[in-house]
Amino acid sequence: MQTQPRTLEATFIFPTDFLWGVSTAAYQIEGAAYEDGRGPSIWDTFAQIPGKVYQNQTGAVAADHYHRYLDDIALMKSLNLGAYRFSIAWPRILPQGVGAINQAGLDFYDRLVDSLLAQEIVPAATLYHWDLPQALSDKGGWVNRATAEAFADYAEVVARRLGDRVALWQTHNEPWCVAYLGYGVGEHAPGIRNQSVVAAVAHHLLLSHGLALPRLRANTAASAQLGITLNFTPAYAGDDQPATRVAVEKAERVNRWFADPIFKGSYPEGLFDDLGIAPPPVQAGDMEVISAPIDFLGVNNYTRSLFQATSDGSQSVQVDPVPGALYTEMHWEVYPRGLGDLLIWLQNEYAPTALFVVENGAAFPDVWDGQSDQIADPLRVSYLRDHIQSVGRAIEQGAHVKGYFAWSLMDNYEWAFGYSKRFGIVYIDYPSQRRIIKESARWYADFIRNQRQLSRR
Ligand code: FCB
Repeated sequence: MQTQPRTLEATFIFPTDFLWGVSTAAYQIEGAAYEDGRGPSIWDTFAQIPGKVYQNQTGAVAADHYHRYLDDIALMKSLNLGAYRFSIAWPRILPQGVGAINQAGLDFYDRLVDSLLAQEIVPAATLYHWDLPQALSDKGGWVNRATAEAFADYAEVVARRLGDRVALWQTHNEPWCVAYLGYGVGEHAPGIRNQSVVAAVAHHLLLSHGLALPRLRANTAASAQLGITLNFTPAYAGDDQPATRVAVEKAERVNRWFADPIFKGSYPEGLFDDLGIAPPPVQAGDMEVISAPIDFLGVNNYTRSLFQATSDGSQSVQVDPVPGALYTEMHWEVYPRGLGDLLIWLQNEYAPTALFVVENGAAFPDVWDGQSDQIADPLRVSYLRDHIQSVGRAIEQGAHVKGYFAWSLMDNYEWAFGYSKRFGIVYIDYPSQRRIIKESARWYADFIRNQRQLSRR
């Protein structure tokens, strides 16, 4: 009989085939924005509008990953990582969004995938992580239903080239952010502030996912798994007031906005009334296309929301800040339990074949002394450790979680926040592009090695 181990590493032993990885996205790390035939994306355009991004920073150079991918893969290998989630820049593949294929763009991802496989790192690709070709945005972007058709064509082009080697395919990353932040409040590209198009944008994103699925199935290996990645912020009640119950239910409907159509073939009842927006333009057959079976759901989670009634009980508002809670640089409450609760809820609600946590992590103000090869980031270490423990609890309680990917491999372009928020487990000194391994990366590497040893016993 084994003695009861005391460290976290031993409290839950993840399955041998559990994937331990890190995530990135093309526009946030690649740079090389004008090289090898890449067309402009909406983020190139948006970032150049004064005042849209912190200090008007752009992703033109970012972490220069386009040129340093081999070093970055070697770094991943040294950190014992078993999987890597990256996104493919649509404007590298089809500079005009449709039509002529840019072979040099495909070649880059081809080399990337082969180099990952050579190091026994499982490639997990996202087809759309927000960098729509500008040419398609000029024709209405995601407000235009034709963009969904264009996406399916693009998906097929990529699958024909990489379909034999990429293990996990995600059509989209966080379509809620695209619809709401990009078209509703204009904080993200393309910077449109028009609540009346949000539901249509969301619907066209979902439709594009559904239209892409058969094209991906037909052009990928039988072992390839297809899915989509959604973001969820679980909502909690801070009291038992009726107003709080209503607020939590509303927040939950937002969490169901994309998952219900995919798994149940319908939008949550009352969602568009809650939001005060027009319902989407659903055409006959759309919901069947959208709800075609997927192999996994990608889950992104960073925080939770907590609601409490006002003193007269007439309404319930988000508690901010939560007394005594730790907050990250994004002003997101650190609430590790939320991730486990969310995974269990998703399993019970939608019965997905598999769940992968494909983003989870934290921005904290890391300080590098300019010389050494060490950076202490104890808050990120605890963030990762506690969230991973929460994933373990969810598995114990029946959630089919098959992998965990930390956001992010390295510091990067945090959209409208530019380079001001550091999410990496590896630090980037942008002037020199030097990579410095943070304590959290060392912790994660040790944790993964330890888990592998334990699960093989
Ligand atoms: C998610 C995005 C990712 C990154 C993290 C912090 O919403 O998918 O690109 O910005 O947040």
